[in-house]
Amino acid sequence: MGRKRVFSGIRPTGPIHLGNYLGAIKSWIQLQDRYECIYAIVDYHGMTTPYHPAEMRANVRELLIDYLAAGVDPERSILMVQSAVPEHTELAWILGTVTPIAWLERVPTFKEKAEQHPDYVHLGLLSYGVLMAADIVLYKAEVVPVGEDQLPHLELTREIVRRFHHLFGVRIFPEPQALVPQDTARIMSLTDPEKKMSKTLGPRSLIALSDPPEAIREKIMKAVTDTGPSGERMSPGVANLFQLLKIFGTEEEYRSLRAEYDAGTLRYVNLKRTLADAIIRSLEPFRRRRAELENDPAYLERVLRDGIRRARAIARETMAEVKEACGLLRDEPGLGEAGVAAAAGSKAAGEQAPEAVERR
Ligand code: TYM
Repeated sequence: MGRKRVFSGIRPTGPIHLGNYLGAIKSWIQLQDRYECIYAIVDYHGMTTPYHPAEMRANVRELLIDYLAAGVDPERSILMVQSAVPEHTELAWILGTVTPIAWLERVPTFKEKAEQHPDYVHLGLLSYGVLMAADIVLYKAEVVPVGEDQLPHLELTREIVRRFHHLFGVRIFPEPQALVPQDTARIMSLTDPEKKMSKTLGPRSLIALSDPPEAIREKIMKAVTDTGPSGERMSPGVANLFQLLKIFGTEEEYRSLRAEYDAGTLRYVNLKRTLADAIIRSLEPFRRRRAELENDPAYLERVLRDGIRRARAIARETMAEVKEACGLLRDEPGLGEAGVAAAAGSKAAGEQAPEAVERR
C-alpha cells in the first residue's frame, strides 16, 4: 500500500493572505512528509465569481509562485492546475447526477455568493460543491487540509460519496476528512473583525504574503481594535491581533503585551507596532524566495508540467473505475477498444456491458 493521499486547493483570485496561509498552506507543508499530497490551483472554481479572463493566467502563475515560496515542495508533492486535468469536470458531471439540488441550495457559501453577486447566480455556482467533491475523490484523497469555512463542502463531499456508492453498488472512494488547524482555523479581517479575512473584503482587510513591509505596517496600524465601549470580553479585533502575535511574535512579546492587556495598561499602538514588525520579519524569507522564483519561468513551467502529468495518471485510473461502475465507455489506453466492443454487445472483447443500475 502506498501512502494515503491529501488533496487541497486555492482559487486563483489574487495573492494569498494570512488566512489562506494559516488556515491551509501551513498544514499542507507539514503533511508533505507523511502523505502523497496533491495541491491544486482551482481555476474552474475561480470562474464561479466575476473575474477578468485577461488576469486569470497571471493569477495562476502568481499562486504557483506563492505555493512554492511558502514551502510546497514539488519533489514531494504534486502541484497542478485544475483545468489542465479534464477528469475533474468529467467526474463532476457524473457526481452531479447523484446530487440532489436541495443539498446544494443549503450550502452556506452558495447563499453568501448569491447575495454578494445577485447578477451572477448560475449553474456553476450552484454546483461549486460538486466540482470540489470531484477534485477530492478523483485522487481518492483521505485528508483535506482547509480552513473552517470549507467544512460544509467537506460534509457535502462525504454525502455525495455515500450516495454514489449506494446508487452504483460500489465502494470506490474513501470518505475524506477535513484537517482544520486548531488555533488558526479562522483568521479574521483587519477592517471588519467579525468576518473572516477574505479577498472579497478588499486589500486593506488582509495581509497578503507578498505585501511589501510598508503595506503590512500600514494595514496593521489601521486595523480595527475596539469598535464599541470595551466590555468584559476582548473585542474580536484585539483578539485577532493577539492571535496573530502568538503565531508571528516571540513568546516574550506575546506574554508581556498580554499581561499589559490584562492589567488594563496596554496601548494598542504598541501591540500593533510589535505585531507589524513580527509579521514583516517572519515573511522576509517568503518574499526573498518569491523574488527568485519570479525570475525562473523555466523552473515554474517544469514544476507544472510534471505535476499535471502525475495528477492525470492518477485521475485516469480513478475515472476507469468510475466509468466501469456507471456503465460508461472507458477510454484509458488499452481499454478503450474493449469498452467500445462491450457497449456494442460484442463478446469478442471478452467483456460484458455493465448491468443497469437500479436508481432510487
Ligand atoms: P479559498 O480559495 O477560498 O481558500 C483557500 C484556503 O484558505 C482557507 N482560508 C482561511 N482559513 C482561515 N482563515 C481565513 N480567514 C481563511 N480564508 C481562507 C480556506 O478554508 C481554504 O482552505 N473551495 C475552496 C477551494 C477548493 C478546494 C477544493 C479546497 C476547491 N476544490 C478541494 C480543498 C479541496 C476555496 O474556495 O478556498
